[in-house]
Amino acid sequence: MTGRLQALRQVHPVLLLIGAVLLLLAALAALPYLLMAAPGAAASIWFARKHKPSLPLRHFLRSRGTGLTLIAGITSALAISALSAAYAHALLLAIPLAGLALAGTFLSLEIIEEHTMKPIMQLVPQGQQDALSGFLSGSPAASSGGTADLSGLDPAAVTAEIKARVIGQDAAVDQSVSLIFRRSRLRRPAKPVCTLLYAGATGAGKTELAKAIAESMFAGRLIRIDCAELSQTQSTQRLIGSPPGYVGSDQGGWLCREIGKMRSGVLLLDEIEKAHPDVMTTLMALLDEARITEQSTGTTYSATGFVVVLTSNAAASDIAAIIKASPDDSPERAGRVKDALRGAGFKPEVLARVDSVMPFGELSRGAAAEIVGLFLQKYAADVGLEIQSVDAGLLIDLIQKREALAGYGVREVVRLVESAVVDGLLEARDAGYRTVAISIEGDAVRVAGVQ
Ligand SMILES: Nc1ncnc2c1ncn2[C@@H]1O[C@H](COP(=O)(O)OP(=O)(O)OP(=O)(O)O)[C@@H](O)[C@H]1O
Ligand SMILES: [Mg+2]
Repeated sequence: MTGRLQALRQVHPVLLLIGAVLLLLAALAALPYLLMAAPGAAASIWFARKHKPSLPLRHFLRSRGTGLTLIAGITSALAISALSAAYAHALLLAIPLAGLALAGTFLSLEIIEEHTMKPIMQLVPQGQQDALSGFLSGSPAASSGGTADLSGLDPAAVTAEIKARVIGQDAAVDQSVSLIFRRSRLRRPAKPVCTLLYAGATGAGKTELAKAIAESMFAGRLIRIDCAELSQTQSTQRLIGSPPGYVGSDQGGWLCREIGKMRSGVLLLDEIEKAHPDVMTTLMALLDEARITEQSTGTTYSATGFVVVLTSNAAASDIAAIIKASPDDSPERAGRVKDALRGAGFKPEVLARVDSVMPFGELSRGAAAEIVGLFLQKYAADVGLEIQSVDAGLLIDLIQKREALAGYGVREVVRLVESAVVDGLLEARDAGYRTVAISIEGDAVRVAGVQ
């Protein structure tokens, strides 16, 4: 730069003077054109900035703005020249000048509308626009999740209520309730209230206990996910929505929405081991940080107010054997249960995120009889009747049937009770009875009206 300046100083002063005079003459000659171009250039800058006020002028001129200003300036010079030619009746000159000015106007507008000032929605591909507008109009990221406020509940009363519903699983009920109460007072910021794993025999009350906890501690707020139905890669989308631009991305993720709506409750992941690995990855993040991000909108939902219950049938017979060998809960027994689960292919990373593993053994005959009693009375109450007596033979028969159907748990017995007595109960009610006696004659169940 300094070199160039020095070279300039060495040029003969007369030559410099001539150059300066020529430059001045050129500027003077161009002045009318510059004046004519000014309105167009100014108008184009004004128009473009009105469309996109946030774009600094410097950036605007550095992009397509310079070209636009130049074209608009030339256009305005052409238009003024066309007007003055028309004024001087030089139509042959005025018409092509006006044509060029018109073309310049269109070109300027084209640059403003199409290139320089596209709204963001036009830049987003068609298929992804719904997702973006869904996100833009959607709820803001849930930075703080709900909390499980159990301060108004009496732990002893809650435990008794749940035990009256879930029979023969007292250890699991006691442990679950006390852990939930303890953890709900801690309010850990980025964790679910606690994560429990109910493992073991089918039809032993695992799902029933999770439902009972939701009813007795969270006013029935329960989100239930049947992981057996989430065994495909695409299943993740049902939980957290499709990625932007994919089919259904505007519908969002079901699980995210439920969590956002309920804020606290029980999140039941039934048969967790059956979930697809991708689904598992999503759910593991939820157990880790109590956060789940909707893929379609990017909104994050917090699950800090949820008790997460996982259930699994893996290693059910091994777990039943472990419980039989050591009926009382101990750290060694818990360790053996975890080993059995790992041996059955249960993912160690899931086990690592669980606060407590609760083994569910086969229900005893006594528990099965109590459950039958519970359901008999429920069905009777449903039709407005009271049961006065139940034949022991009926209970023995039902329990024997359950044992013959080994592996089906008490679920099948509940079904048998229903099919055996509901018709008889309805008949007794229609006959005007309020109280009934239930007995068994051969293979047939008899419901006899008493009063
Ligand atoms: N311990 C129990 N107390 C009361 N009812 C029970 C118990 N176990 C099972 N039931 C009854 O049997 C039905 C099935 O039980 P539940 O769904 O809890 O089984 P589960 O242990 O989750 O079995 P699976 O592993 O097959 O899902 C329940 O709806 C309930 O009516
Ligand atoms: Mg279940």
